[in-house]
Amino acid sequence: MEHLVSPSLLAADFLNLGKEVAMVNNSLADWIHCDIMDGVFVPNISFGFPVIEYVKRVAEKPLDVHLMITDPDRYLSRFHDAGANILTVQYEACIHLQRTVSEIRRLGMKAGVAINPHTPVSLLEDTLPFIDMVLIMTVNPGFGGQSFINESYKKIRELRKMIEKKGFNILIEVDGGIDTANAAELVGAGVNVLVAGNSVFSSKDPQETIRRLKKLD
Ligand code: DX5
Ligand code: ZN
Repeated sequence: MEHLVSPSLLAADFLNLGKEVAMVNNSLADWIHCDIMDGVFVPNISFGFPVIEYVKRVAEKPLDVHLMITDPDRYLSRFHDAGANILTVQYEACIHLQRTVSEIRRLGMKAGVAINPHTPVSLLEDTLPFIDMVLIMTVNPGFGGQSFINESYKKIRELRKMIEKKGFNILIEVDGGIDTANAAELVGAGVNVLVAGNSVFSSKDPQETIRRLKKLD
């Protein structure tokens, strides 16, 4: 399948969020990535329900919501009601992960699990039957604009093998330090969804950057 591009609004101009979403609507992007940070799971606080609800009103692409929050079970239905289409929880934040991802699916969303750079992909083996996507964090979550961790390639290849061996239909997403310089190699290693924050929103021509991330020419 052709890979997907999911620009992260964390790097957008929040004073002009409507315009930024319109820019993404009119680009080759596939999804809109929303980073939710609670100041506990990660050392940063981003935005919450009111922002997602407003984005949802104008978004013409699915909302790919990445929860960097502790105990996400408390808020799954709220994120569904706010407009999330794909909901990803952090492996490290869930005590009963199978229950959490099953509830995400029961609510009608696609279920994703994100793993931090220190978390091995092998820990996901028993969870793969219950999810639609794995998000391999390629930086430590919390901030945009960090450098890509090169060791991530090994994890991507290992996960791709695990998924293919069992014949699962699961997307591999990467998030953190993705740009037009590493996108092609990531897709070559088996990535299906590229998240990009600063490389898109801080570029001179964000729509052209999205096009380059999508077309990889
Ligand atoms: C990191 C977030 C990312 C972030 C990526 O904690 O999960 O989605 O916005 O930003 P860049 O692409 O700038 O590294
Ligand atoms: Zn993210």
